[in-house]
Amino acid sequence: MTYREVYESWKNNPESFWMTAAEAIDWHEKPSKALFDHNAPLYEWYSDGLANTCHNAVDRHVDAGRGDQAAIIYDSPVTDTKRIVTYAELKSQTAGIAGALKAKGVEKGDRVIIYMPMIPEAIVAMLACTRIGAIHSVVFGGFASNELAVRIDDATPKAIVAASCGLEPGRVVEYIPLIDAAIDQAGHKPGFCVVFQRDPHRVELKPDRDLDWHEFQSGSEPADCVPVNGNHAAYLLYTSGTTGAPKGVVRPTAGHLVALNWTMKNIYNTNPGEVFWAASDVGWVVGHSYICYAPLIHGNTTVLFEGKPVGTPDAGTFWRVISEHKVRNFFTAPTAFRAIKREDPNGEAIKKHDISCLRALYLAGERADPDTIEWAKKTMGVPVYDHWWQTETGWTIAGNPVGIEAMPVKTGSATVAMPGYDVHILNENGTPQSANTLGSIALKLPLPPGTLSTIWNAEERFHKSYLSTFPGYYETGDAGLIDEDGYLHIMARTDDVINVAGHRLSTGGMEEVLASHPDVAECAVIGVSDQLKGQLPVGFICLTKGVNRPHGEIASECVKLMRERIGPVASFKLAVVVDRLPKTRSGKILRGIMVKIADGEKYKFPATIDDPDVLDEIKSVLQTIGYAKS
Ligand code: COA
Ligand code: AMP
Repeated sequence: MTYREVYESWKNNPESFWMTAAEAIDWHEKPSKALFDHNAPLYEWYSDGLANTCHNAVDRHVDAGRGDQAAIIYDSPVTDTKRIVTYAELKSQTAGIAGALKAKGVEKGDRVIIYMPMIPEAIVAMLACTRIGAIHSVVFGGFASNELAVRIDDATPKAIVAASCGLEPGRVVEYIPLIDAAIDQAGHKPGFCVVFQRDPHRVELKPDRDLDWHEFQSGSEPADCVPVNGNHAAYLLYTSGTTGAPKGVVRPTAGHLVALNWTMKNIYNTNPGEVFWAASDVGWVVGHSYICYAPLIHGNTTVLFEGKPVGTPDAGTFWRVISEHKVRNFFTAPTAFRAIKREDPNGEAIKKHDISCLRALYLAGERADPDTIEWAKKTMGVPVYDHWWQTETGWTIAGNPVGIEAMPVKTGSATVAMPGYDVHILNENGTPQSANTLGSIALKLPLPPGTLSTIWNAEERFHKSYLSTFPGYYETGDAGLIDEDGYLHIMARTDDVINVAGHRLSTGGMEEVLASHPDVAECAVIGVSDQLKGQLPVGFICLTKGVNRPHGEIASECVKLMRERIGPVASFKLAVVVDRLPKTRSGKILRGIMVKIADGEKYKFPATIDDPDVLDEIKSVLQTIGYAKS
């Protein structure tokens, strides 16, 4: 069948499409139907089915005689370690941790926060939770303790599973002091912490709180998989919204299994048994879906890479990993390729490695700029497929369905809508736009299986953030257009979210941090274009009357504060003091125009601007830090 035929078959009979896809999953009890719409516009999938995520990701492959196949290839240039975990080993490790968690009172529906770097134990911990129906929430290691505290208070976990440290180039990230500070700050106190000791930095455990990863398993029975209802949450993953309070995306079990399994062949053109590599981090949705769950559910071997595209040790690392582990399909963010290209523009390093095993490169997480795509294509000699999705959807909204039919690539487009997604471009009144007209990208409800069901503890916010602007649609927060061939082009965000090195961050959240500095009266944070990271945050601060300390000193304090409150991942290094901010007469800060000035783009004076001169002041401040070159 062609892509169009498959898409039409879904559109004509979504129920049959998703029931057929569900046959590839092991059910404890089969669902009677796919969609449950009794609570619309909140939808559920396969609700009366019973299944278990860990069984589908691990045990069923062992039962099918593939226990000796590598499930995980751990490759860590930062610790100079390589290790294979077979499916049989993954099953026994997962059952061991699950049993120990159970013995400590963790039950179906309880939350467990996982705060771990890119080590196999992070995947074991995730799977152990889903094995017993506990809901995990992985927190990315680059966040500060304040962000961890916010997640502890929202998810109210019974336990935290952590490692003693993470390793960033040239720096050991000590997790335990971050956990100590987060627990101190949080109102909710988890019952206990499990700590996996890593050799580069072993820690002393707190006897009343901490348990050693290995010791805590002794004496407990390995746990079996607990079947859960289709709509039972497999995990929560926090993502940035427009304010400092992150949104806990809830991922229901059954839709997640069915949809991710479907994507492995149809989008990533990967067959069971092959090696799949997503170079991301388990703390992000790409890591959840394509380092952990999808490859394992589909019976692939997943590569868990603890390193960076450059500097660990050089710009040839990706090529070595692909060649050494026989990676068939590779997925990463464009920023990783920009980093490699900057270091090795002529692609010399790739000549030392045979990457003929590779079929294709998939890019997502941020806009894939044409230069990067062209460079990657030329250097690697394989097709490069851009695809667009979000933490909320968990899998591709628009991409190239290579396993069905490789569509012609149009550089600058994420290609076409996947079955399950009815994508529309709407104007501000919700009117559908014709081809090639820019507007808000909205998805007609219901969203397909595998997408979020709600926001944890915040159903009201779920409605307000996604469902209220365009009734009957899910608002993606992205703007773009659909061209005459039905290809989707993603152009920008419509909200205060920025994308820094593929990491989604809230400028609103950053403004809350700056505003908490005692000398700051008012502030604005914008995302300016950056050649490496796509965007970088810049903070503008107006000082409280009477403050006459050196501006540089206050700006440095703001940079430090951001690192302490949000974390190094914010990449917030630029804060400037200004006399005033450009505003409309009603007092709205003109952030969009500030971005255009910083990026050297043309802009129009809005009719409602309070004082146009302030734009010149902003421009000259930006020029002093190397921006606003027209
Ligand atoms: N734990 C602790 N700190 C972390 C971290 C982690 N897991 N990950 C990143 N950080 C820190 C970095 O060390 C850096 O700190 P610094 O300010 O002291 O240098 C800071 O957070 C910013 O990190 P990042 O934006 O990732 O910049 P970088 O210079 O370390 O690396 C890239 C830049 C492009 C190489 C890197 O971002 C990358 O490989 N990205 C592509 C893949 C990816 O992860 N995509 C995510 C979604 S698909
Ligand atoms: P996250 O939830 O962190 O995965 O970020 C999702 C956001 O990243 C999207 O809403 C887009 O703004 C952006 N994004 C992801 N993939 C792409 C892509 N292929 N092209 C353009 N933007 C993208």
